[in-house]
Amino acid sequence: MLLFKTVADLQIHIAQQKQNGRTIGFVPTMGALHQGHLSLMKQSINENTATICSIFVNPTQFNDAEDLQKYPRTIEKDIELLTQVGVDILFLPEVNEVYPDNWQTPSFDFQGLDELMEGEHRPGHFSGVAEVVYRLLDIVQPTTLYMGQKDYQQWRIIQSMLTQLSSDIRLKRCVIEREIDGLAMSSRNVRLPEEARMIAPNINKILELARQEIITLTIQEVLLNARKRLNEIAEFTLDYFEIVDAQSLQRVENKDKSESLVACTAVYLANIRLIDNIILR
Ligand code: PAJ
Repeated sequence: MLLFKTVADLQIHIAQQKQNGRTIGFVPTMGALHQGHLSLMKQSINENTATICSIFVNPTQFNDAEDLQKYPRTIEKDIELLTQVGVDILFLPEVNEVYPDNWQTPSFDFQGLDELMEGEHRPGHFSGVAEVVYRLLDIVQPTTLYMGQKDYQQWRIIQSMLTQLSSDIRLKRCVIEREIDGLAMSSRNVRLPEEARMIAPNINKILELARQEIITLTIQEVLLNARKRLNEIAEFTLDYFEIVDAQSLQRVENKDKSESLVACTAVYLANIRLIDNIILR
């Protein structure tokens, strides 16, 4: 695997690759890689002649300084995993490479996609995500961008950004990789104390119950049940549990008025914020 730390070096290499008619798959990450990330890499490797991964803990998307500071950094292990899986290029820039002095933050209109859920609970988060993904795409110019359903709202917002830019970059949404007990894989899971780790799979169980209940119950009933179940687990502090239209990410009153619904939740457990979601139908 080749490692580039500067935009200039990376771009020279990519230009050569493109001359050879190669397709480029791109997987942006913040490192502390796990099998969830690696499943995106594997999909890209299967579908492209070259796969580029970036590892950059983007300061502009953290609304909480402590969360940024505590974000796990395991670069040596990450490099080992990426090499094993067969990623061709790792882009590992410093902050000043991503955001040079003359950097201008682009502005997008997400038409409410960034209003609820993570948008409401982490102010400024999505403008930071859009900013960094915009910049990374501009640098890498991939054929296809791979993102996880684990961050459903993020995926939908980047889809909207690409539409606003009339970009011809294709966007794939990759399935959520889970531990055997159902807990969605996340870089944050390693920070969970053992007892909390045992309780964490209830998030997925409660999402699964919602998926079963939506067949017969109203949205209001499903919401009530799910929030009650989450609140009943003393170790959880519920941040939100929402059922939204899969396209508009707006709350839905009547389930028959929406073609596709997704339930999204964020829960604090042992002071660690965990998110998960499920496509209800
Ligand atoms: P990060 O949290 O490192 O995630 C990188 C990518 O891996 C995202 O597209 C995310 O949805 C996906 N991912 C994480 N856990 C997953 C799982 N269990 N199964 C499948 N995919 C999973 O998301 C970010 O970084 C950043 O916001 C980023 C897009 C890199 C911008 O800074």
